[in-house]
Amino acid sequence: MFPTSRPRRLRATPALRRLVAETDLRPRHLVLPVFVREGAVEPVPITSMPGVVQHTRDSLRKSALAAIEAGVGGIMVFGVPRHRDATGRAGVDPAGVLNVALADLRSELGDACVLMSDCCLDEFTDHGHCGVLDRAGKVDNDATLTVYAEMAVAQAAAGAHLVGPSGMMDGQVGAIREALDVAGHRDVGILAYTAKYASAFYGPFREAVDSQLRGDRKTYQQDPANIRESLRELSLDLAEGADLVMVKPATAYLDVLRAVAEHADVPVAAYQVSGEYSMIEAAAANGWLDRERAVLETLTSIRRAGADVVLSYWAAEAAGWLADPR
Ligand code: PBG
Repeated sequence: MFPTSRPRRLRATPALRRLVAETDLRPRHLVLPVFVREGAVEPVPITSMPGVVQHTRDSLRKSALAAIEAGVGGIMVFGVPRHRDATGRAGVDPAGVLNVALADLRSELGDACVLMSDCCLDEFTDHGHCGVLDRAGKVDNDATLTVYAEMAVAQAAAGAHLVGPSGMMDGQVGAIREALDVAGHRDVGILAYTAKYASAFYGPFREAVDSQLRGDRKTYQQDPANIRESLRELSLDLAEGADLVMVKPATAYLDVLRAVAEHADVPVAAYQVSGEYSMIEAAAANGWLDRERAVLETLTSIRRAGADVVLSYWAAEAAGWLADPR
């Protein structure tokens, strides 16, 4: 007659729900991706990502400080250079925008938060691909590794605690690890983009970094149809020395995240990408959903699926909400 099991009992009050919550979302779990634009005199809004800007060196410092104040676990820096070329030299140059910004942030913040750098060429090449091209115009895997290795060393020298190879070249983690070790940066870690899919959800990011890409990245990023392939990428990255592994995008790939988390013996990150941000911002701007609730729900779901660390453009704001729950 009466149900013998009543799960609703534990949902009856906020205190009961708090007591039995299985997943924790804390500011320390969140990493803020930021953009710095060479030569910018004031922050440049990114139209497709309301609330996100391309920073000046100065506004970047301030926003990084505010994010740390809010308790975020780290900051991931992307550079938007003034000049691009075929091999992305500005990414390797210590005076290039990303390396200068990393040095600024490291001298300002020291070890107060984990400073991460995007270790990829697409922001720096005039063709917009994540690697250098061969004579036929195809992305040349092994020639790209040489540039990634130099880039990682430059970023480590500038002050990055973790470098984040996001280009999905075969062997990128191993090549970077070796170069960092040889250069004496044995304490600088690698946040490997392990399972990165060729996704439509990167759309707004292309505006964020003024990407020059025509075509697509399907010869190096993964097919959304695949999950087993991500476990293969995971084995390779772990064998090559990845310190953390990442799945990207997050929300449409929670099954991949779960699988990677079950198989990884290192911390797992997930990247809630630009399109995931813009979708919720656009819907919220129309009054179609509750922004704060939707954001926290997605972040919690990403944690629940197995992410130890979540990269999100809402990181600083969400950290503020979490410190002061309403
Ligand atoms: C490539 C890179 C991309 C993103 C992060 N690193 C773009 C791409 O692969 O096309 C996307 C991040 C986002 O959409 O928020 N270096």
